Amino acid sequence: MTTLSDLAARITLHAKLLDEHLQSNNLPTPSFSIDAPPDFPNPDKDPRVEAARVALIEDTQTLRNLALGPGQVVRQVGWSIIDLSTQHTLLTLHIPSLIPLTPTGIPYTTLSTLTHLPPQTLKLLLRQSATAGLFHEPSPNHIAHTASSAVLVRDGPLGDWFAHHLEEVFPAALKLAMVVGGSKGVVTESKMEGEGGGKKGMGNSAFSLAFGIEDGFWDFLERNPDRQRRFLGAMEAVGGDGGHSLRFVVEGFQWGSVGEGEGEGKGEGKGVVVDVGGSAGFLSATLAQTYPKLHFIVQDYAHTVESGRSQLPPSLQDRVSFMAHDFFTPQPVSADVYLLRHVCHNWSDGDAARILGNIVPAMKEGSRIVLVEVVVVEPGVVGGVQERYMRNVDVNMFQMLNTQERGVEDWERVVKQADARLEVKGINQPEGSWDSIIEIGFE
Ligand SMILES: C[S@@+](CC[C@H](N)C(=O)[O-])C[C@H]1O[C@@H](n2cnc3c(N)ncnc32)[C@H](O)[C@@H]1O
Repeated sequence: MTTLSDLAARITLHAKLLDEHLQSNNLPTPSFSIDAPPDFPNPDKDPRVEAARVALIEDTQTLRNLALGPGQVVRQVGWSIIDLSTQHTLLTLHIPSLIPLTPTGIPYTTLSTLTHLPPQTLKLLLRQSATAGLFHEPSPNHIAHTASSAVLVRDGPLGDWFAHHLEEVFPAALKLAMVVGGSKGVVTESKMEGEGGGKKGMGNSAFSLAFGIEDGFWDFLERNPDRQRRFLGAMEAVGGDGGHSLRFVVEGFQWGSVGEGEGEGKGEGKGVVVDVGGSAGFLSATLAQTYPKLHFIVQDYAHTVESGRSQLPPSLQDRVSFMAHDFFTPQPVSADVYLLRHVCHNWSDGDAARILGNIVPAMKEGSRIVLVEVVVVEPGVVGGVQERYMRNVDVNMFQMLNTQERGVEDWERVVKQADARLEVKGINQPEGSWDSIIEIGFE
């Protein structure tokens, strides 16, 4: 049995390894001061450093929980609702952007004038927030940013991700029990399945219940362009989250060999890739930068592709184009690869099969469908950090979209349901990646 001292010894070992890495590479000591880097410094993505960092997070969490004791762990979970309500209120009042990004911050009295709120109310919210590591009081009666709260102002996509969670995921979460209870605790097929492009299935989601809508999250975004724009940022932030880094997609598939028998290796492929449900095209843009001969067509809703087109760097305009396309209608482009990153997991089995099935008639010999998705595994197979992430996303998919993440067999079933001639050719999970790359082709 692992004792507290065993855990502490392992923590010391990994902490020393990380300190050595920082010192030998002349990197800053981690801190939360306002100018600290937003991520733990590992510029060369050294896997040894990443493994030590993840082990440190997992062991410190276990040690902390053991020190808290079982009852206190329950209290901590209960109290987390206060973190969310505080952050939601601060965001709604635009308080993060009213606090200057300076070490000295702003007096509560000035913030009170700017917000028309009593200083006492501001203190109530910001002092609670400070206990979670966002904001701090650098001197009496002043409030300033920490590096974490500063991220909300400085990092547009991560700020968008945070705001999406507070304003859309948080209200949906409060309706989850009602949705699960309504189906007697079991997600029935009729609840999971959509009709007419999934709209009916999604209309049963906790999100739809929370927002009083008959259809689902995607239709809601189409009606609310500001929220849709923010969601694009949120999706970009997902790509900035360690285990979801776009580099795993860039390095985890033979992009260099894509395209009508052209030469092997990076940069040699000359094929066409359709990025289905590709949002504002940030993955295609990243791939295009690494593979200068590939051409990309990003398909998504009309508003979304407009926004992508306007953000595309001029140097990529001849190789990355945008097309409004509903993936519940037949695919109009004949391509070498159809790339779907984090798309099918948003949909029930029937809808995911319809999305893939709509691509099949456009496929030529040698065309492949490439999915980038979390492939769920049984508890304990992956480390604690990854497990926690995987289970969070699973519940999130359920409450927002009335669907769930899938394991290997689930993916194989969906692929066969799409078209009996298709098969999963391979599943590659690059080291350190939370996503797997699922390659699908004709048998
Ligand atoms: C979870 S996001 C993933 C976006 C992107 N592939 C990525 O890697 O971040 C799902 C995308 O599917 C798009 N989408 C939803 N329904 C669609 C439909 N019927 N036709 C085309 N795109 C759709 C959304 O607008 C969104 O951009």
